[in-house]
Amino acid sequence: MTSAKRHAANAALELIGDGMKLGLGTGSTAALFLDALAEKVRGGLDIEGVPTSQRTEERARELGIPLFQPDETTRLDLVIDGADEIDAQGRMIKGGGGAMLGEKIVASAAAKFVLVADVSKRVGTLGRFPLPVEVVPFAYATTIRAIRETLTALGYEGAKVELRGAEGGGFAETDSGNLIADLHLGRIMEPEELDAALTLIPGVVTTGLFIGFDVHPLIADENGIT
Ligand code: A5P
Repeated sequence: MTSAKRHAANAALELIGDGMKLGLGTGSTAALFLDALAEKVRGGLDIEGVPTSQRTEERARELGIPLFQPDETTRLDLVIDGADEIDAQGRMIKGGGGAMLGEKIVASAAAKFVLVADVSKRVGTLGRFPLPVEVVPFAYATTIRAIRETLTALGYEGAKVELRGAEGGGFAETDSGNLIADLHLGRIMEPEELDAALTLIPGVVTTGLFIGFDVHPLIADENGIT
């Protein structure tokens, strides 16, 4: 799959021009894009980027990609990012790497979302990939119960809700110090309805559902863009 991801990452480079302000995504495909972008920057390409996570910020700094802090007037030309699933309508699940909050904030400031992904990410119906939901640590058990009740009310019988564990034990923490609940749903029939209902729960910060973005999909297999 790495060669497919690399094809997608390289194709995204063709959309980049001097003077652009870019959102820099998180994940293995976005990391391949950063490598390719850094090479162009060393060759004289003049861009500035806003990272979507601490991981991406560190990597971009190591690679010498110029970064900037967005202000209230900032509009990004493009954000280049991966996804865990995308359907035919350009709706996505993101957050496998736990960075969906930063990714969504940056994507919201961008005119276009350039999706870089291998073909395994294209699905008929979203939901086989567990949906990540960012939850504040305060009284998190109450929020988890509200998530379960919301899922039942929407007809997701048998859905499993799991707090994501950290490698060294305990719970995984996001860049903002929050927790992640992974929702095992199987099939998400109405992504807009589910996103709206989950986002209304007070302890929920955001969900990994990315809906309504102007997506430019660059999806590749090992032979190139499909
Ligand atoms: C990070 O939080 C995610 O949204 C990633 O963009 C997503 O998991 C895709 O990652 P890969 O490119 O590693 O598959």
